[in-house]
Amino acid sequence: MKRIFPDSFYNLITLAGATVAAISFGLIMFLIALEFFSEEQKPYMGIIAFVILPVILILGLFLIAVGIWRDHRRERSGKPHGLRLPQIDLNNPRHRTAFFYFSFGTILLLLFSAFGSFKAYEYTDSDEFCGTMCHSVMEPEYTAYQNSPHARVGCAKCHIGPGAGWFVRSKLSGAYQVYATLFDKYPRPIPTPIENLRPAQETCEQCHWPQNFFNEKQKKFTNFISDEKNTKWNITLLMKIGGGNAEGGLTSGIHWHMNIANEVTYAALDRQRLVIPWVKSRARDGTERIYKSTEVIPTDEEMALATTRRMDCVDCHNRPTHIYHPPQRSVNQIMELGWIDRQLPYLKSLAVQVLEHPYTTRQVALDSIRLVVDSYYKTNYPALAVSQSDKIETAIVELQKVYRRNYFPEMKHDWRQYPDHIGHMFAPGCFRCHDGKHVSDDGKVLSKDCNACHTIIAQQYENEKLKMSLEGLAYEHPVDIGTAWNEMNCSDCHQAQ
Ligand code: HEC
Ligand code: HEC
Ligand code: HEC
Ligand code: HEC
Ligand code: HEC
Ligand code: HEC
Repeated sequence: MKRIFPDSFYNLITLAGATVAAISFGLIMFLIALEFFSEEQKPYMGIIAFVILPVILILGLFLIAVGIWRDHRRERSGKPHGLRLPQIDLNNPRHRTAFFYFSFGTILLLLFSAFGSFKAYEYTDSDEFCGTMCHSVMEPEYTAYQNSPHARVGCAKCHIGPGAGWFVRSKLSGAYQVYATLFDKYPRPIPTPIENLRPAQETCEQCHWPQNFFNEKQKKFTNFISDEKNTKWNITLLMKIGGGNAEGGLTSGIHWHMNIANEVTYAALDRQRLVIPWVKSRARDGTERIYKSTEVIPTDEEMALATTRRMDCVDCHNRPTHIYHPPQRSVNQIMELGWIDRQLPYLKSLAVQVLEHPYTTRQVALDSIRLVVDSYYKTNYPALAVSQSDKIETAIVELQKVYRRNYFPEMKHDWRQYPDHIGHMFAPGCFRCHDGKHVSDDGKVLSKDCNACHTIIAQQYENEKLKMSLEGLAYEHPVDIGTAWNEMNCSDCHQAQ
């Protein structure tokens, strides 16, 4: 056989290296062509073509070099006179061919790896990479994200953002995460909050800046009570969002107070920042006030372990996109939309119950939801179970969809592990500080007044007259619990048990 390369090329290591390099190069080319010509997205292709195969390719090239080097050393070992580099004689046709192949190949590879590293960079920043690469690990975050107001904002926009520093930091911690995933060393559920989340000023404020929210925003909540008739109860709130800028002047409201004029700092005793013994506000004019809880009085040791933090967007909007809805809320929503029929007796109560049961896997959950709902109506309402069987079937299917969007038993993710700080219904939220029990030395109380953050402009029980007032109504709790709704936090009863 005629040999085109110098003899030193023909050793086992080099040949093996060349084969490996050639095959991976061919595969990469093939995958690139495939990506070029096909329209749909293929989740794992990018990582194979731009991350894994190039590593194998480089390994192959390295083996080629090692093989040649070893060969020369062997050849040389008989000769006593030091260094001898291989001689390249361009008049020798074999050397010429080898030189041509090698230079051409190297240039091609350099170009290619420049392109490859760019693609690798681009790829590791894509939502596809973040959301599906470690499939089961990120599935809850990815699913919740796809159903959120930020579904079109890339993961990297909030978690990495522009700038080399954060890029390097995120790729370093990312490398650890890849290791943790491969060796199954990650915690379930994934701990929240993220300790080194990029500061909100550099992420959220790229798109939303606090000077820009002056409007009050009307929010209507429709609720169904857990009785036989699934009785409806509506409340409409005017959220005092607020804001302020140089042109329009300062307005009062939630954002203005928290972020532009004031600097609010607080201490938290627990990792999730739910227990807050004191909070300090510093107004524009420099006056400071410290509000201390009259209920949570930590010991010195507890205080030493507490973390202090300057409040920013994610202290209220901690779930802007990975939103796991509590069952009451999602069932209220699909019932209001008519996706499940509220003529089915006790459906609200039953739905919340089947969604909340702790299941071990998703499949078990989906099967149990069907079984329990089906047999509930067969046992308690046999005539209806026959006449309304299609509505019961629809309800089952819709509840299974709610389950899929909001519960991830394999990862132990759902609303209970990820309390949302906006509001105060299912988690302490605003009432971590505004519980009426945080008092300053001069006697000022962080207000829990029901019309401080929102004005209750309308309330209505089904079949009763609509009550409306622009000044704010006195709150009526949908079922009679005396004045407990005012004395306790809503989440004391409505939080998961
Ligand atoms: C709108 C901004 C935003 C986008 C877009 C976003 N995240 Fe997040 N992410 C957050 C915030 C805020 C937190 C919670 C931070 C906290 O509480 O400290 C978070 C938390 C997480 C956590 C920690 C566990 C948890 O649920 O608290 C993971 C994992 C995560 N995000 C992955 C992703 C992935 C994957 C994507 C893209 C599919 C993504 N994020 C897109 C803002 C975002
Ligand atoms: C790349 C731009 C971008 C970034 C970064 C971003 N958002 Fe948004 N945000 C949007 C868009 C777009 C919407 C949808 C606006 C709409 O529906 O009117 C939105 C909506 C919202 C809403 C209203 C949601 C609702 O229910 O209507 C909130 C609250 C919010 N973002 C908070 C945040 C927070 C907190 C962060 C930082 C963790 C953040 N955003 C980062 C673009 C962004
Ligand atoms: C004190 C808690 C708190 C802080 C801090 C806070 N927000 Fe809000 N934000 C709210 C509340 C409450 C609403 C009312 C929305 C609702 O009820 O859904 C809101 C509404 C919004 C909206 C929706 C506005 C609209 O017109 O729909 C955006 C966007 C938003 N916030 C972004 C931010 C950003 C960005 C930051 C950080 C600069 C921030 N918020 C800081 C509590 C807060
Ligand atoms: C970490 C503690 C803390 C949390 C959590 C918190 N706040 Fe506050 N809030 C404060 C402090 C401190 C003040 C400033 C009181 C002062 O000194 O006047 C304040 C003031 C306000 C004011 C102005 C009240 C007034 O007297 O004019 C509004 C409105 C408000 N907060 C809304 C909210 C909303 C809505 C939430 C939940 C989304 C929330 N806050 C969560 C600490 C907190
Ligand atoms: C510190 C500010 C603040 C105070 C004080 C406050 N709220 Fe709210 N409330 C909120 C915010 C913010 C939301 C919006 C939650 C959301 O957008 O999902 C809310 C939502 C609600 C809802 C709708 C809950 C749901 O999910 O169905 C009701 C009802 C409500 N508030 C009643 C009250 C009552 C009653 C009081 C007085 C005991 C009160 N609020 C005091 C901030 C406050
Ligand atoms: C002492 C316990 C307790 C407290 C405190 C409490 N609730 Fe309730 N709440 C109940 C009970 C019991 C029901 C009836 C159960 C049902 O219908 O699902 C209920 C039902 C509701 C419902 C209708 C059912 C649904 O799931 O939509 C809403 C809305 C509600 N409460 C809001 C609040 C708000 C807002 C607060 C705080 C201001 C609050 N509750 C405080 C016990 C409580």
